[in-house]
Amino acid sequence: MSKSQPKTIYLKDYSAPDYFIEKTELEFDLFEADTLVRSKLTIARNTAKPAAPLVLNGQNVELVSVAINGEVLSASDYTVDDVSLTISNLPDTFIFECVTKIQPQDNTSLEGLYKSRTMFCTQCEAEGFRKITYYLDRPDVMSVFTTKVIADKQKFPVLLSNGNEVGAGELDGGRHWVEWNDPFKKPAYLFALVAGDLINVDSHFTTQSGREILLRIFIEPKDKNKCDYAMQALKNAMRWDEDVYGREYDLDIFMIVAVDDFNMGAMENKGLNIFNTSCVLASPETTTDAGYQRVEGVVAHEYFHNWSGNRVTCRDWFQLSLKEGFTVFRDEEFSADMGSPTVKRVEDVSMLRSMQFAEDAGPMAHPVQPSSFIEISNFYTLTVYEKGAEVVRMIRTLIGAEQFRKGSDLYFERHDGQAVTIEDFVAAMADASGRDFSLFMNWYKQAGTPKLSAKGDYNAANKTFSLTLSQSCPPTPESQTKQPFHIPVAVALLGKEGALKLSLQGDVQASISADQQEAVLELTSSSQTFVFENVDEPPVPSLLRGFSAPVKLAYNYSREELGRIITLETDGFCRWDASQQYALLVIADVMAALVNEPAPAVDESLIEAYRTVLTNDALDPAMIALMLSLPSEDYIGDQQAIVDVDTIHHARNRVVRKIALSLHAEFLACYNKIHQELSAAPYSPDATSIAKRSLKNKALAYLVETGKPEAIELCKAQFEQSDNMTDTMAALTALVHSPKAAIADLKAACLAQAYGKWKEESLAVNQWFAVQATSPVPGALAVVESLMQHEAFDIRNPNKLRAVIGGFAMRNSINFHDRSGSGYAFLADQIIKLDSQNPQVASRLLTPLTRWKKYDEKRQQLMRDALQRILDKPGLSPDVYEVVTKSMV
Ligand code: ARG
Ligand code: ZN
Repeated sequence: MSKSQPKTIYLKDYSAPDYFIEKTELEFDLFEADTLVRSKLTIARNTAKPAAPLVLNGQNVELVSVAINGEVLSASDYTVDDVSLTISNLPDTFIFECVTKIQPQDNTSLEGLYKSRTMFCTQCEAEGFRKITYYLDRPDVMSVFTTKVIADKQKFPVLLSNGNEVGAGELDGGRHWVEWNDPFKKPAYLFALVAGDLINVDSHFTTQSGREILLRIFIEPKDKNKCDYAMQALKNAMRWDEDVYGREYDLDIFMIVAVDDFNMGAMENKGLNIFNTSCVLASPETTTDAGYQRVEGVVAHEYFHNWSGNRVTCRDWFQLSLKEGFTVFRDEEFSADMGSPTVKRVEDVSMLRSMQFAEDAGPMAHPVQPSSFIEISNFYTLTVYEKGAEVVRMIRTLIGAEQFRKGSDLYFERHDGQAVTIEDFVAAMADASGRDFSLFMNWYKQAGTPKLSAKGDYNAANKTFSLTLSQSCPPTPESQTKQPFHIPVAVALLGKEGALKLSLQGDVQASISADQQEAVLELTSSSQTFVFENVDEPPVPSLLRGFSAPVKLAYNYSREELGRIITLETDGFCRWDASQQYALLVIADVMAALVNEPAPAVDESLIEAYRTVLTNDALDPAMIALMLSLPSEDYIGDQQAIVDVDTIHHARNRVVRKIALSLHAEFLACYNKIHQELSAAPYSPDATSIAKRSLKNKALAYLVETGKPEAIELCKAQFEQSDNMTDTMAALTALVHSPKAAIADLKAACLAQAYGKWKEESLAVNQWFAVQATSPVPGALAVVESLMQHEAFDIRNPNKLRAVIGGFAMRNSINFHDRSGSGYAFLADQIIKLDSQNPQVASRLLTPLTRWKKYDEKRQQLMRDALQRILDKPGLSPDVYEVVTKSMV
């Protein structure tokens, strides 16, 4: 058995499978030591490939026996290596049978069949099924699955797989079995199995055609009271998908299982979704508002995959965004409809700009449709998911909601039951709308964030406003030069009183809204000028409304012009963005001044702009909270060629402190008013209350920032009296993250009190870990090291790793990037340790080290040393190998 070297796989090498698997019959005999998997596959040769041998994928599985058409093969009839089983000279159709032996209890990769606490469960996407048995583990091989699960009845009373239960019975020795059949053909990555001692919470949903669906969430008994919210979210999602996309659920039962140990958020296995507990369980005492919203979003996301992913799936893994980009777009719109669309859009864009833009500018940058990879697990990225969703959104912007719906109907109808490509998706949109998307495909094929530069020119004599748009895109690993992108730029022109009526000169590629207040200009070459006519006054252009394209906009706004957008724009995104740009200018001034003086002044006009926003009763409180949030350190860093970690931190803090002190009275009044309003009713995670809490807690954070004893008292009172996790965590975070040395004892006391309360609540403990790991106060590394020794820490649990190691390395810049390099060395040590245990998690946690080019020379060297140390580890996983080697170039 030879160990194969990591090798690059190319999209251009795609070739249809050599064989198809019509029927898959599985039998799992689960034991504490060895699990036996019996597989019977009905296979037919792809007649286009007459001579090809059968090559099945298999990894970390022990082959016990193999037979063709009932004849047991001897070892000379096949070859096995560490990733495959090969059999030659097969007839055109045959029955393949094999028995494999696996040890799920030792499977720490959490891929394939593994144990989470006391339960058996699976994660097969992308290529985990091959860790269960030999198979054609690729998404274009779709099969009807029947699965029989056998286990000890007392320990594992619940035995689940995809589809419908078709049989059950008792066996000798206290064992029992349940058989499942999934009538829909599916690829192996959608297979799931669960065995455990679980309880279920049930509900029902009646579909648009009147079919009654059983909805069933499985959890551990202790979590019984924590699934109501997910259940309601599921029903809302089912209704929404019928209303907005005409998609009805297809099986008679839809199941969700919550598991503690899970690499990602959740998985859309057909009829049997498996969820990280963090994305399904929710209770006021353990879950923040953001946590509730995440549950709602992820439940919907996985449900929506039933059509965008399962009924129509991906031909190969280069097409991952076909299902993920589209499904994220769908879940974003769902969440927007369930709450505040503007707030949701701002949150999504803010995340995209600070995280995805950084990915697109780093060494792992890749197109939404990558053209090559070593390990597909590394491509479950912000680019494939979030940028992929932006690309789908642009399609809708270009053709309008109605044509978009026609396009999606056509796509589902044309490709139901098939494994298809991103090109097929776009072709359906093109056919339904009659639009040409050939240039648009560059969004899928080219990596990198385009820069969109805009220049405005008002001609008073002609009453015209000329807007010149130009684009460029920095080189990325897959390509040094870039073709132009097809960029929809949504624009309004703001006069002194508000939006002006728009009319465009000449025959340009653009559309104007019914109310004439917005134009969508289509930039399709490197530079174009659009001329607005009948413009009676010099306007301020408000560009990229709703963030109409995932680009970096450059327009030389004055503070006054930004002020006009903040007060007059009706598009929430532009309004928020103007406040961000304003703050960026002010922070940039402070950063520049910090070179010469330790305590530079902060532009008072920002304070006045904030005061106006804070006291504007017409604004949604959640929008106020967002507009009063300074750009994150990451986003500020992204604007710089070389990130000046310390200066960013100090300058931003200085501005925060100035705002806090100047608007102290306003923040206090705002806090007291909302606090009183909210105290009248018990906690509820509805949009209105969430919005109020977000502003109240924003005010609290600014109050604590002043360091005033009354503010600390107020915060302590909120921590002690709160009946919900949002307020508790907001207060705890404000205290723990405060630099005020005098409150060290108070911090320690609150942390101890919180742990005492949450000990038994794993998801709450994760947040308790994270608040400490992300603290900007000096000394975070020592805290992190001690947290890893804490009784509640579990190195096998990805949520704990993400809270502690991820919190420190990804959400604590100032400490992680400490000049000494101690943060880098720590992370390298952890990656080296985790690589053998869980390569997927190790590879993800590694991300911050890969961004070394963005830092000063000294840090660059330290970061590269850390990467080299990782690379020197013998037997590195392909996951970590790919990220380290690509980032060291
Ligand atoms: N399809 C899942 C989702 O987005 C995620 C699966 C992640 N798998 C992985 N190997 N990274 O809902
Ligand atoms: Zn997904």
